[in-house]
Amino acid sequence: MGIWSKKSIAQLRGEEGQTHELHRTLSGVHLMLLGVGAIIGAGIFVVTGTAAAQHAGPAIVLSFVLAGVGCLFAGLCYAEFAAMIPVAGSAYTYGYATLGELVAWLIGWDLMLEYLFASSAVAVGWSGYFTAFLRDYLHWQLPPELTSAPFDVEPGGHLFHATGAIINLPAVLLVALITGLLVIGIHESARVNNIIVFLKVGVVLLVVGFGAFYVEPDNWKPFLPENTGTFGQFGWSGVLSGAGIIFFAYIGFDAVSTTAQETRNPQKDLPVGILGSLAICTLLYVLMALVLTGLAPYSTLNVAEPVYVAIAKAGPALSWLRPIVSIGAIAGLASVVLVMLMGQPRIFYAMARDGLLPHFFGRVHPRFHTPYVATLITGVVSMAVAGLFPIGLLGELVSIGTLFAFIVVCGGILLLHYRRPDIPRPFSTPFKPVVPILGILTCGTLMVGLGLATWLRLLGWMALGLAIYFGYGHKHSRLARGGTAPSEPPPGDLGGPL
Ligand code: ALA
Repeated sequence: MGIWSKKSIAQLRGEEGQTHELHRTLSGVHLMLLGVGAIIGAGIFVVTGTAAAQHAGPAIVLSFVLAGVGCLFAGLCYAEFAAMIPVAGSAYTYGYATLGELVAWLIGWDLMLEYLFASSAVAVGWSGYFTAFLRDYLHWQLPPELTSAPFDVEPGGHLFHATGAIINLPAVLLVALITGLLVIGIHESARVNNIIVFLKVGVVLLVVGFGAFYVEPDNWKPFLPENTGTFGQFGWSGVLSGAGIIFFAYIGFDAVSTTAQETRNPQKDLPVGILGSLAICTLLYVLMALVLTGLAPYSTLNVAEPVYVAIAKAGPALSWLRPIVSIGAIAGLASVVLVMLMGQPRIFYAMARDGLLPHFFGRVHPRFHTPYVATLITGVVSMAVAGLFPIGLLGELVSIGTLFAFIVVCGGILLLHYRRPDIPRPFSTPFKPVVPILGILTCGTLMVGLGLATWLRLLGWMALGLAIYFGYGHKHSRLARGGTAPSEPPPGDLGGPL
């Protein structure tokens, strides 16, 4: 037993049988709503404008298609894993089954970039819309020192500088509120989420449906602005950079897989939830990107509220839509923060169960049946990150971390395709091995679009993760101490090593 030791699927499913503390309340439709709730957020409402203005122009539409294709490949692989190993922990658990403990730890550590840092990034985006709402409709101007990040970094730069601000207070308060909601229970949270998802999708449809009548086709010319001579600034490399950046907008569908232990019929519901939410969002994003860049010249969209700006260009005819967009963004972004903050503790829970994190991370509340300690720890860290850093920096870090996790998931499916074709797969990725290979290639290409500074931050984060593994997890691993075998193996030939 050591850093390469793996769990068998029998062990994983056996653990599931032992841990009935989490309530099984979610259906396939719940999961699809949960997915859409996690996906549509600051990416489309905030980041699209910057990416169009600085990287791709109207061809940001192509960036959305490229990123969507990468997510589709990875989503199919996620769905296969999620149905085959329907236990908490997402890519972390899949990694434990296929690539061994060290890789599993690194994925789990990497997933913090996705869930924890994304919750902070979206809270920062939320703060922008919330502050604008207070200013425009309640005539209450919050001081800028309390609504923006005290630290920032130049585009492509490495060093942080002070901005003069103190803290992004609305972002911190939002995370605190949602953390409280999650401690009380997932079912209540899912119900609130459902209402907000309808509101958010409604807002996107209104912008697309009414905005389409005011599109100026001249704004789409040139559709692919010429490259400036620098990689990533327009032209095809700009489409690639844009895709890496707006990849952030797709993150979230995999959060569905982290609720496997709380799903009624995971083997059917998980694929429906993951693929359904991804399909809906890709369609909405492409339409939204077309309308936004058709309403306003792309160079004017580099603002905190690009959807606002685009609507304003349509003139008074669409002014009724502004407050609706505002409310939709405020509620919609909050629901993304909710799903992200819900995903992270469940990964901590799985890691603590395996001994790779201290036991208290896995403590389940006796009355609420929620992993409350991990939820509180996640909330406090997310509050600190949201209060201190800007959305651009956080968004790119989240994108690169998630792309890395996607590559490992596709690699795991590829490996199992050859090593264990015998395992029953309630959902099987089509066209294997082509789809997982294309997933690895597409996500790898998107990572290339993200620039050196972001790569270095990823490497630094992973180095810290390695140090913690060898300092703690390696010594305390339950698997290494032979502690996780189920008392009765499930039927079928699932028990051998992968
Ligand atoms: N996909 C999420 C968003 O766009 C993270 O906000």
